[in-house]
Order: sequence, then C-alpha cells, then structure tokens
Amino acid sequence: MKYETCNDHTSREDSVLSFPRFRLVHRPTPLTELGRFAAALARKGMRCPRLLIKRDDCTGLAGGGNKTRKLEFLLGEAMAAGADTLVTTGAIQSNHARQTAAAAAAAGLHAKLILFDTVPYMRPGYRLSGNRLLDRILGAEIEIVPGDSEPEQVFLRVMDDLRGRGRRPFFIPTGGSTATGALGYVAGFSELMDQLTASGIEATRIVHASSSGGTQAGLVAGSVIRSEAPAIHGINVYRVDHQAMVTDIHRLACATAARLGAGQPSPEKIILEDGFVGPRYGIPTDETIDIIELLARTEGILLDPVYSGKAMAGLVSLIQSGRIPADEPVVFLHTGGMPALFAYEQEFNRVAE
Ligand SMILES: Cc1ncc(COP(=O)(O)O)c(C=O)c1O
Repeated sequence: MKYETCNDHTSREDSVLSFPRFRLVHRPTPLTELGRFAAALARKGMRCPRLLIKRDDCTGLAGGGNKTRKLEFLLGEAMAAGADTLVTTGAIQSNHARQTAAAAAAAGLHAKLILFDTVPYMRPGYRLSGNRLLDRILGAEIEIVPGDSEPEQVFLRVMDDLRGRGRRPFFIPTGGSTATGALGYVAGFSELMDQLTASGIEATRIVHASSSGGTQAGLVAGSVIRSEAPAIHGINVYRVDHQAMVTDIHRLACATAARLGAGQPSPEKIILEDGFVGPRYGIPTDETIDIIELLARTEGILLDPVYSGKAMAGLVSLIQSGRIPADEPVVFLHTGGMPALFAYEQEFNRVAE
C-alpha cells in the first residue's frame, strides 16, 4: 500500500510530508562527483569548479526524471479526490506525459495524454519513438492535437468526454507545475541538502533545466524552509519572454511556500539563465549535442537534447564566462529525459563512426 497521508516526518522541514502522497521515487537518488567530466573541461582550458551531479534521472519510474517527484503529490491529490483517470498535456516527446502514464499505471489508474504538435522537428523518430513509444507501451490513451489549438478548449472537451464515458478525471497542467506538484521539489531539495551535509560539501549553487517552472519553484520554496541557501540557477530551455517566466516561477514558489506555512521567497531568488534554448524549445543545439557526448564518454551518464543537455551546455558556458566561479562546488541536477534521445537519433549520427 503505497498511498498514504504521510505521518513519517521527522523534522519541521519535512512538513511537506503531511500532504497526501503516492510513493514512486527510489530515494535518495545518487549524488556523485563528475571528476572525469570536470577534468575533460579543464583539458579544454577551462577553470572548472568541483562538479557534482544529483541523479534525478534515476527516480526510478519508467525511465526516471524530475516529474516523478511532482507526481507523488499530484497522485496523492488525485486519489484523495477519488479520481480514476489522470489527464495531462505536453509536447509529443513530453517526459512529463510519459511519467504521468507510468504513475497512473503504478496506481491502477487510467491515463489520457493530450500531446500538442508544437515542435517543428520532422525527423522520423520524433513522432513514434522515444517518450511517445513508451506512452504507448505504458497503456496511455493518446490524443495528438494541432499545435495551434486553443488549449483551454481542448482540455474542457477532453474532460467532458471522459466524464461522459463515466470516468472521474483529474487534470494535471503542463509539467505538473502546480503548488502541489512543486512540493516534490521541496522534498527533493531537503534530500539533496541532507546528502551534502552528510558529505561535508558546501555547494553554493544548484543548476538545472527550467521549463514549466515547478522544479525551480519547489527548490526555491525548499530553500526558504531550510534556511540554507545555495543559489538555484534555472537554465531556461523553454520560453523567450524572460520576465514572464520569472514572474510565473516566483508566483508558484510563493504559492508552494504558502501551502507549507513558510515565508515568501524574495523575487531575487528566481535566477533564470537565458541564451541556451537555441532556435526554439525542442530543437537541439550543436553545443548541446557536443556536451551530451562529452558527459556520456567521460562519465557514462546520458542527458537529453531538450532539457538536461541544454542545461549542462548552459552550466559549462556559465563556468567558461566566469559567472559561476571556479572555487565553489556546484550541483548539477539531472532532471532526466534520456528516452527522448531516441527521438533525436539523427542528431547523433552526424559523423560516421
Ligand atoms: C527532462 C526534463 N528536465 C527538466 C524539465 C523542466 O522541469 P519544469 O517543467 O519543472 O521546469 C522537464 C520538463 O518537462 C523535463 O522533462
């Protein structure tokens, strides 16, 4: 019986555990050194800080990734509401949709995925392989809608249709980025800080891919609660309007902190790094492909071309420019996404072996 209204909290910081939660995450996810990767960067002439990686690609649910932490609380909320169907949305290669399909399967629920055809990437694997293939295997009902459809109208239609079929649907917005979903990263922040403390490492920065903002909002809310303060750098892999994205993430961080009865995070805590999304969301950059290969070949760790690869390319660039100093340990939060590699195989077959 994994569904619980948790009462296993051991400290005030873990007040997050009083929320309904369906256990999915294999925790703690590993925290390890990126020694060989950092040495490879140094060989390229870079002054590189001590680099650690928090392996949330290993959260354990059907390919892992950051959404599994959010889904523990979203599923808790859905089950408390008596839902029998999880409905969510994303791009065709959405990692969030795949993890939602898996979470529904693990809880014995039905999943309906509304996938918007928004990314102009026309290679063959994009539509049928990667996450899309896993959605199918996981038994989700999939509907692909044109990228220019009006989202609210589509969601209302789908919810009405499901109710008409006698189902009790629960809607999870893009990326699971609600104040409930973000609780997963309040807990994730706490887990990481415990690991750093136990290892005697004072990391001053956490760097990760930011898109719908729930991961960053949860980390920031968690940092307020813990009163330890590594700076949290979200690498923007999604939107062009910087200020709108910062405002949304701050609003969500405040709503998340409020649910926990904690103080409101100041707007300065939302650090969003721009310049790494490339031509647009979902289209890989050359720097991203290069860094994915470098990490794979030095550490045996796989990133993805849409989120974690762009975030790592961003981190390396911030180190190179001196914005991230060489004398302070940095944690890269690997948010997952590896299944999408199979949707972008042609990017990696540029050079004949
Ligand atoms: C692999 C991966 N990393 C990072 C993110 C961004 O997380 P968030 O939407 O919470 O900003 C996503 C979102 O889909 C993702 O799939």
